[in-house]
Formats: sequence, C-alpha cells, structure tokens
Amino acid sequence: MRTRYPLLPLAALLMRPASANFFLADSYVGHDFLQSWTWETFDDPTHGRVNYLDQATALASNLTFASDDKFIMRADSQNTVDPNGRGRGSVRIKSNKAYDEAVVVLDLQHMPEGCATWPAFWSLSQAGPWPHGGEIDIIEGVNLNNANLASLHTTPGCTMSSAGPPDRFMSGNVTATDCDASVNFNQGCGVQFGSPASYGSPFNAGGGGFFVMVRSRDASGPGVRIWFWSRDDPRVPLEVRAPPPTGLFAPASLYPTAWWGEPDAVFPLSDNCDYASHFDPHIFVFDLTFCGDWAGTAYSASGCPGDCNDYVNNNPQAFQSAYWEVNSLRIYSPRY
Ligand SMILES: *[C@@H]1O[C@H](CO)[C@@H](O)[C@H](O)[C@H]1NC(C)=O
Ligand SMILES: *[C@@H]1O[C@H](CO)[C@@H](O)[C@H](O)[C@H]1NC(C)=O
Repeated sequence: MRTRYPLLPLAALLMRPASANFFLADSYVGHDFLQSWTWETFDDPTHGRVNYLDQATALASNLTFASDDKFIMRADSQNTVDPNGRGRGSVRIKSNKAYDEAVVVLDLQHMPEGCATWPAFWSLSQAGPWPHGGEIDIIEGVNLNNANLASLHTTPGCTMSSAGPPDRFMSGNVTATDCDASVNFNQGCGVQFGSPASYGSPFNAGGGGFFVMVRSRDASGPGVRIWFWSRDDPRVPLEVRAPPPTGLFAPASLYPTAWWGEPDAVFPLSDNCDYASHFDPHIFVFDLTFCGDWAGTAYSASGCPGDCNDYVNNNPQAFQSAYWEVNSLRIYSPRY
C-alpha cells in the first residue's frame, strides 16, 4: 500500500537551496536509438553466455528493430549456439550522451524474460576505472524473477540505512546496505521492489509500464529515487504517461516528483554517501546477457531446467520472449 508524502514543514522548504525546473534534454523514440546510441560488442564483463552484435549485424538479423514509435532489442531465438562460440546473439547499447542530475522516464512495453536471461537498464560513469563516478541499476533481474532489483555500486564510503522513514520512505525491501563494489562480491546496495509486476513475466503480461529515476546532488534533496507503475495503474502521473509538449517536465517546484507518493526505492545521498565524491555524469545502458555471474549462479535455485549454458546453447525457441520493447526514454535536466 502506498502512502502520500507527509507535508514538509515550511521551514524545511525555505531552507532548501536553489530550486530547479526540469526541461526535456533528450527524447529517444524508435530510430533515435540508432543514431544516438552505440552498440557494444566486447566479451560480457559479467561472463555471460552471450555474443553481443554490432549494429549492422543486429539490424540485419532483426535482433535490433526500429520503427517510428518502437525500438526493439532481442535475443536470437532461431539458432542453436556453437558450444565453442561466444554465446547466444544479443544486444548491448549505451547512450552517446551522459547526464548528471536528471529525471529519467522510461516507457517500456516489454522486457526480456525467462530462464537464463539477465537483462538490465542502468547508468554508469565514464570516468573510470569502474566504479569511480558510480553505477545506478534501475532495472535488473534474472531467470524467473518477478520483482525488480535496483542497486548502487560505488567506491568505498557509501552506505545506506537498512530501515525506512525518515531516511528511506519507500515501498521496496532493502537487500544490502553497503554500496561499495569492493565488498560483498560487488552486490552493491539493493532494494527489491514491492510493487506487483515490476519485473519479468507479470510485467510483460500487464503491457509493461513506467520506470522513473530521479537523481539530485542536493544533500537535502531526493538523492536517487526510483518509481515503477504498471501501465494500467491509475496512479501513473500525467507528466509520466503523457509528457508535456512544452518540454517543461512539471509545474515549477523544488522537485517535480514531490507529489508522486512513496517511491519503490530511495537512496539518500548525504551523510553516509556524499554525491560529489561518488557520482558524476552517467551514460545509460540497455543489455541482455545469459547465465554468467548472476543468472548462471541463481539458475537452478530459480527453478530452471538442467545446466544454464546448455539451455542457452540448445533451446533457441526458449528465447522468444527475451526482448526489450521500448516506447520511449525521456531525460529531463534541471535549470536553476
Ligand atoms: C523484425 O522485428 C519486428 C518487431 O518484432 C517485426 O515486426 C518484423 O516483422 C521483423 N522482421 C522480420 C523480417 O522478421
Ligand atoms: C518484503 O519483506 C516483507 C516482510 O519480510 C515480505 O512480506 C515481502 O514479501 C517482501 N517483499 C518483496 C518484494 O520481497
């Protein structure tokens, strides 16, 4: 059950630093992805059984498809895989542009689902070496999961409280509190969403929905917050469902999301994790790998059959629902 934010005392509002309006910086729909994103072809750093294709090859084999209003990235669901080859054909793309403080609105119709799959939509710094400048995982899960996991991965000195209000007023459950990528086998600090249908097969059955990520450097501000709404949820904010044509995200306000109700995940960036030393401008990534460090390790416990790599090699038809279908990705930046 989501509740509304308690009203802030007036004094708290007056003490806040400069307010901002958020304006549309970039909108990615259909063909826009082909022009403004890069297809990455390296070996999967998470050791997945995947063969990431370049754009021309992905387009030629229809593992990437763009129309005026759709953008699709999918797994190869036609061919068996050479056990000595790199793995199943798939797509990993990154935005050419990086963004710092932002409101990020993803209208997603379908995400990859099924045994062996490990899709993610996330952002990361270009500073390097990783995790300098941080990583924010907005959508992530494996195999037959049906609850989304959002996480931060950072350099040391970034921790989250394990509890809820007033620090973390959110509907999701804390899975880990130390965001430092060098501890806990790089688990990061995660929050599992409480909203129904935030991931996998139930997400797709409902026609997908909307993910919104807000990030702010203001120590008294929202930090990193992530909301999810199913497509038919009557609480989807109008500015999310039907973006305003003016480019102004929402009526002038300190933070445009203050009236949206409880987020699924909240990561305050203040005393225990200061923004300036852990985060900088991020590019965005969509990927889809198979097995590897997480989906492979969790494969049997997820109730999936046999060996993960064998399953990927020998069952192309099992990957027919392993695709991203993006309606739009809109990124709003503040003007102070
Ligand atoms: C490529 O994929 C799109 C989207 O799924 C589909 O509509 C189209 O028919 C496919 N084209 C071919 C040649 O298979
Ligand atoms: C969150 O934790 C509560 C209490 O342990 C549990 O009932 C609920 O199923 C959990 N939600 C998720 C999404 O794991």
